[in-house]
Amino acid sequence: MLYRKLGKTNEKVSALGFGCMRLPVIDGDITKIDEEKAIEMLHHAIDEGVNYVDTAYPYHGTGMGSGGQSEPFVGRALKDGYREKVNLATKLPSWLIKTREDMDKYLNEQLERLQTDKIDFYLVHALNKGVWENLKKLGIDEFLNSAIADGRIRYAGFSFHDDLVVFKDIVDYYDWSFCQIQYNYLDENFQAGTEGLKYAGDKGLGVVIMEPLRGGKLVRDLPETVTNAFKQAEIKKSPVEWALGWVWNHPEVSVVLSGMNVMEHIDENLRIASASLPNSLTEKELEIMVDVQKAYRTRTKVNCTGCQYCMPCPAGVNIPKNFTQYNQYHMLVTPKTEGELKAHYNAFVDISERADKCKECGKCETHCPQGIKIRKELKNVKELFA
Ligand SMILES: NC(=O)c1ccc[n+]([C@@H]2O[C@H](COP(=O)([O-])OP(=O)(O)OC[C@H]3O[C@@H](n4cnc5c(N)ncnc54)[C@H](OP(=O)(O)O)[C@@H]3O)[C@@H](O)[C@H]2O)c1
Repeated sequence: MLYRKLGKTNEKVSALGFGCMRLPVIDGDITKIDEEKAIEMLHHAIDEGVNYVDTAYPYHGTGMGSGGQSEPFVGRALKDGYREKVNLATKLPSWLIKTREDMDKYLNEQLERLQTDKIDFYLVHALNKGVWENLKKLGIDEFLNSAIADGRIRYAGFSFHDDLVVFKDIVDYYDWSFCQIQYNYLDENFQAGTEGLKYAGDKGLGVVIMEPLRGGKLVRDLPETVTNAFKQAEIKKSPVEWALGWVWNHPEVSVVLSGMNVMEHIDENLRIASASLPNSLTEKELEIMVDVQKAYRTRTKVNCTGCQYCMPCPAGVNIPKNFTQYNQYHMLVTPKTEGELKAHYNAFVDISERADKCKECGKCETHCPQGIKIRKELKNVKELFA
């Protein structure tokens, strides 16, 4: 296993981290973790050098409103000496916080669920603009400072799902040790993206990566254009090797989390991790990745570059965000992923910013450098995600 220094901390974390959001389950029931199998896998990964384990309050539960089974499972799985071998990461369920007292209430409950007296890496979970504004008002900075001071958490960070402007605002607000972002070769300009990764890295934050395989969509049921791009490449590697290797090539990346639930995936990812140094991809390899990215982009529908010239929209529509979701949908859609990708739109685009708010005034079209027929395209977005 290779280890990387996590930002300005002196912690050495394994390049591969174990994500406990997709553990093996019984009878397809997400709330019934197959504990025997899952413990075997987690112990195997730790025995092979993984020292970062990521969970969260709602994982393996019935929804975002209550605690799931992942944290209690991790508490049990890390007994017999395994707790001391790993950095344990979990997250404050930010969307459930209504008062300053709630922050302590959830952290204390999580310590009990995890059967530990401290959490090494504590994240404010899934931040977006609305949730962040609420937490700022309620005193999140004072909560994190006091939890560090009394030893319940060692390092404070946040995980993130919104756009770059919001990301920079959050990075600058508090003296974070680390952050967790969604990042893979399709997300260079999505959410925090490459600019956000470098911004956080420059400020000394360790960066933990989630969804490096887009939840598996970059390795299974690939579109024909993409399969062909891999076939034509002079250098042969599996899609998972290309995808994970591309993420680890970035020196700002500390840990790459993978939600693994079969032993073969763990062994494969351990093998790839042990060969993936920062800045190690050759020019030829990077060119191949550009060809694969292009193969995906041929499937997009709107030529939006995200320049924001169309903004602000008088009706409040976040035009680039709508087009990003629309394009992401077309790049990745298969009969199996259709429902999930549609749900992403509702999860990540606020009601007030959605395409159906367009009043067709056309002001945006006079500013778009790409000449996009924005009103017509927003109607398509609305129809698709209705
Ligand atoms: N903070 C947040 O808001 C947030 C959001 C998302 C995730 N996370 C965390 O980040 C972790 C990582 O994200 P992720 O689980 O989405 O990671 P990911 O690596 O993008 O996706 C994991 C999926 O990829 C497939 N996979 C993994 N290794 C493979 C291999 N060697 N060969 C073929 N397929 C492979 C598996 O899909 P199949 O099971 O279908 O085979 C697996 O379930 C999560 O587990 C969770 O801990 C946090």
